[in-house]
Amino acid sequence: MDFQATIDADGRIEPRDAMPDGYRKTLIRQIAQHAHSEIIGMQPEGNWISRAPSLRRKAILMAKVQDEAGHGLYLYAAAETLGVDRADLLDLLHSGRQKYSSIFNYPTLTWADIGAIGWLVDGAAIVNQVPLCRCSYGPYARAMVRVCKEESFHQRQGFEILYTLCNGTPEQKAMAQDALDRWWWPSLMMFGPPDTASTHSEQSMAWGIKRHSNDELRQRFVDMTVPQADVLGLRVPDDGLVYEDGHYRFTEPDYTELYDVVKGNGPCNQGRLAHRVKAHEDGAWVREAAAAYAAKKEARAA
Ligand code: 3HC
Repeated sequence: MDFQATIDADGRIEPRDAMPDGYRKTLIRQIAQHAHSEIIGMQPEGNWISRAPSLRRKAILMAKVQDEAGHGLYLYAAAETLGVDRADLLDLLHSGRQKYSSIFNYPTLTWADIGAIGWLVDGAAIVNQVPLCRCSYGPYARAMVRVCKEESFHQRQGFEILYTLCNGTPEQKAMAQDALDRWWWPSLMMFGPPDTASTHSEQSMAWGIKRHSNDELRQRFVDMTVPQADVLGLRVPDDGLVYEDGHYRFTEPDYTELYDVVKGNGPCNQGRLAHRVKAHEDGAWVREAAAAYAAKKEARAA
């Protein structure tokens, strides 16, 4: 079946199928940036593994950060089915020619931030990634099914951290409120610019890559999250929030901040990229050893 007929029938495009260059290009763009986000996203949380308040919290956080590495690997593998090499994608990330989600350019100042990231950032990721399980490109959709199963654990453990703090001392509750105040707006920005300013949405939706618009998913996230903040006894930092006809009307985020952070002017952009490049360089010996072993094995087999 030809490409458009497959898309029209809501079918799956597989790596060996004929596809428009633009379809391949936008998928490489999105999947690569998604993979980069997973890998860079390990840093803000990784900073707290050695400072987790208990062995249980440390074990959970280690498992989550390891999961994110795995999500990155699934996604680099999905991108490689489109004919790109992950080493080239990493070069594009390290040289600033490809980016990662704005959300990972904010600092994790207290332990409550680790709860806010699990609850809000992974919560937003679930809202964004569940529809991607139905993406028209097979390898991306299948990678998302596995990722979403693990995200649910990520979101629950974050919520549990905040629930514990909110039912602890007044200082602990205040720490949770401070984290919500700092992570709320950047989490809304994760869904991208407003639909009126989205450059890719129309074509991505026509190709069945994007199933819902940025604003639709942002609204879905707010509707899901505000009642959870009520259970925590925390106040969402939006004076314009009001429940009306089954939805929470909310104040639009300041998108100039999103564009500024994407441009590289967020609180942590330089540090995140420098840390990533150093980790890549420090790991060169592992790649060289693996390549030498593979070459020797191949020579023996020949
Ligand atoms: N951060 C960085 N760049 C962003 C952004 C954000 N929050 N939101 C939008 N952009 C960029 C887009 O990449 C695009 O720029 P580009 O042409 O250079 O790629 C531009 O802003 C215009 O935005 P569009 O809405 O037109 O772009 P998309 O159609 O690609 O929609 C998206 C943006 C919704 C983020 C979409 O790319 C997407 O769904 N990506 C897959 C999911 C993803 O990457 N999530 C990031 C977080 S991963 C995560 O949270 C992991 C969890 O385990 C913690």
